Amino acid sequence: MTGSMNGKVALVTGASSGIGQAIAAALAKEGVKTVISGRSVQGLSETASRVKAAGGEVHAIEADLMDPASVELLVTDGAAAFDRLDYVVNNAGTQGEVNVVADQRLESYEEVFATNVRAPFLIMKYAIPHLLRQGGGAIVNLASGGGLVGVPGASVYCASKHAVMGLTKVAAIDYAKQGIRVNAVNPGGVDTPMLRKFFESIPGDDARAAARAAFEATHPIGRLATAEEIADAVVFLCSPKASNIVGIALSVDGGYVAN
Ligand SMILES: NC(=O)c1ccc[n+]([C@@H]2O[C@H](COP(=O)([O-])OP(=O)(O)OC[C@H]3O[C@@H](n4cnc5c(N)ncnc54)[C@H](O)[C@@H]3O)[C@@H](O)[C@H]2O)c1
Repeated sequence: MTGSMNGKVALVTGASSGIGQAIAAALAKEGVKTVISGRSVQGLSETASRVKAAGGEVHAIEADLMDPASVELLVTDGAAAFDRLDYVVNNAGTQGEVNVVADQRLESYEEVFATNVRAPFLIMKYAIPHLLRQGGGAIVNLASGGGLVGVPGASVYCASKHAVMGLTKVAAIDYAKQGIRVNAVNPGGVDTPMLRKFFESIPGDDARAAARAAFEATHPIGRLATAEEIADAVVFLCSPKASNIVGIALSVDGGYVAN
């Protein structure tokens, strides 16, 4: 492998399934060594197999991002695994509950904000000194179409992803001159365990099929994205091809927010 990303090291959170797993495999194809993190040992082992099949080197770390001490340890151990850190992909996330605002539970709010906002904030806080030691790098935060527009019933999730956009923009401004580019990728609907779990929670086969069809119809392209389509955008934003791209929301959503 002789590409411009060859030998770089990436930390990818939420890498035990869905988009995170696809990101780790896509980075490996570019010669990037990956530190993969998640809560499911089995999922991490599946991801490690995909990374190795793509010719990559991989190091797995089990961590619950709800726990700030575990987040700090993850970054310390992650940076030590291959003795450098160039890219950070804050991908782990949780969807919370689908309900009108008055019926949202405080416990769900706390879980969503701890996972979707506090964890990426802490990972950036602890990882940035490592990136600066390499002379720069790239951070990609997985936000969402729900970080740019409102999605009915998803107030808490949307608020958390709007917060991710705020963190992304300000971190981008803070570190632009020091060679760290911070950007967000904003998917629409992506066919992953997260979305499947959401549809499975709808009672009744007909209602479930109708909800999925109605959701797909909100995407002008007429279908959900694959995890690999999102991973390609993450790899691009990490790569030198994105050298002048700073603080953006890159929508990969089949036209969802343009609609
Ligand atoms: N699937 C979609 O339609 C969609 C759309 C827009 C944005 N996103 C975002 O993309 C990202 C990836 O989601 P996905 O669709 O692959 O879902 P997923 O559920 O397959 O993956 C999310 C990952 O995050 C991990 N995670 C959640 N809470 C964690 C915690 N406390 N500690 C450690 N890991 C934790 C999960 O274990 C899982 O591996 C998320 O940030 C999500 O909000 C997804």
